[in-house]
Amino acid sequence: KRIVVLISGTGSNMLNIAEHCQESKSQANKINGDVVAVIANRADAAGLAKAAELGIATEFVPHTNFANREDYDQALVERVQSYQPDLIILAGFMRVLTSVFVSAFTDRIMNIHPSLLPKYKGMHTHQRALDAGDTEHGVSVHFVTEELDGGPVILQSRVPIFPEDTAEDLQERVHEQEYRIYPLVVRWFCADRLKLTEEGAVLDGALL
Ligand code: GRF
Repeated sequence: KRIVVLISGTGSNMLNIAEHCQESKSQANKINGDVVAVIANRADAAGLAKAAELGIATEFVPHTNFANREDYDQALVERVQSYQPDLIILAGFMRVLTSVFVSAFTDRIMNIHPSLLPKYKGMHTHQRALDAGDTEHGVSVHFVTEELDGGPVILQSRVPIFPEDTAEDLQERVHEQEYRIYPLVVRWFCADRLKLTEEGAVLDGALL
């Protein structure tokens, strides 16, 4: 399968998935796919250089100079489409996508969101969990629909919140789980075990 990853920053999830696509990882965990391109909306996204080091095509598609989100999304659709992807992975891509993008790639866009959805859609999830006095937090991988952070959840991982935790502590704890669950979900998708249907996300024929 051909995978395109969209990022805005560090790109550690992107790198982790790219490594799982390469032969060097153990066969059991290998993803039957290739990251064919990494596209960022920010020139300073550190992940771009890291992807280039791995020999992956990289592009910078700036969101400035567009009159509205739809126009930007149309430009992005064209760049992504040029790689003929089977799957598009959002990994720290800090732009809200409109229906222009989502409808161009129905059923094949995924995102990782650092909360136990449907809790804490949007930004600053770690701080919000702390402020609410929650005792647990986590991360969700979901299919992307037109509702922000609202598409069907595929897999979640929970982490405890300890009394002295800062938002940074939580972010680190959540990141470790991200590195476990995102490659797993991508592996299912690339093995044709996972689909988005009208009813929701389906794994091995069972509705999640
Ligand atoms: C992750 O925390 C992810 O959940 C969120 O953005 C962050 C990306 O981190 N959507 P990285 O760029 O993969 O290191």
